[in-house]
Amino acid sequence: MNLDFSQIVPYIPFMLEGIWVTLQFVFVAIIFGFILGTVLALFKIGSIRPLRWFADAYTSIFRGTPLILQLMIIYFAIPQLTGYDIQPFLSAVLAFGLNSSAYVSEIIRAGIQAVDKGQTEAAQALGVPYRQMMIDVILPQALKNILPALMNEFITLTKESALVSTISYLDLMRRAQVVGADLYRNFEPLLFVGLLYWLMVMGLTILGKLVERRLRLSD
Ligand code: ARG
Repeated sequence: MNLDFSQIVPYIPFMLEGIWVTLQFVFVAIIFGFILGTVLALFKIGSIRPLRWFADAYTSIFRGTPLILQLMIIYFAIPQLTGYDIQPFLSAVLAFGLNSSAYVSEIIRAGIQAVDKGQTEAAQALGVPYRQMMIDVILPQALKNILPALMNEFITLTKESALVSTISYLDLMRRAQVVGADLYRNFEPLLFVGLLYWLMVMGLTILGKLVERRLRLSD
């Protein structure tokens, strides 16, 4: 066995910095994906046919192709097409946000459709307009039920974030590779960032549990 963790000690601050770098774009991508996903879900359950088609086609494309491919198209192909020199951060936010919204839209659609029909009927009987009914009656109930599924999606996104190491974005994963190349030893830095990813996911899990408990208070 050839393990020596003392060698990675000088690199620890460099690797820890990766947590922030990773979280930064994951956070923006989650928000972006969630908002777009909600809009797409509303398209899917709405009565306007072209919007329904659009949302279905969107999900089909973004769920049907690898995330790494979408990331590479945005990072390498958009500059070729438009001449715009897109930065890794923006590419990452776009790819992860667009991809996530395809999944989120299905989660939210399922959540909305699982809310008892009587809720819609009651709101309509009371003359509540569609928009207000969605925002005040249906979505809050749907959100409570789909929270575990949403947390799953956010955890997936956090871990898949390691893909940005392929577009020269200096995230946690890339930092482990840099340290590995510097030291000619890969096991220790990889194990170390593995621990950091796990801690990040644990943090998310705890946050999700807290929000879930908070939402259950109203029951
Ligand atoms: N590795 C999968 C892919 O390349 C993950 C997609 C992202 N998943 C998600 N729930 N957003 O397609």
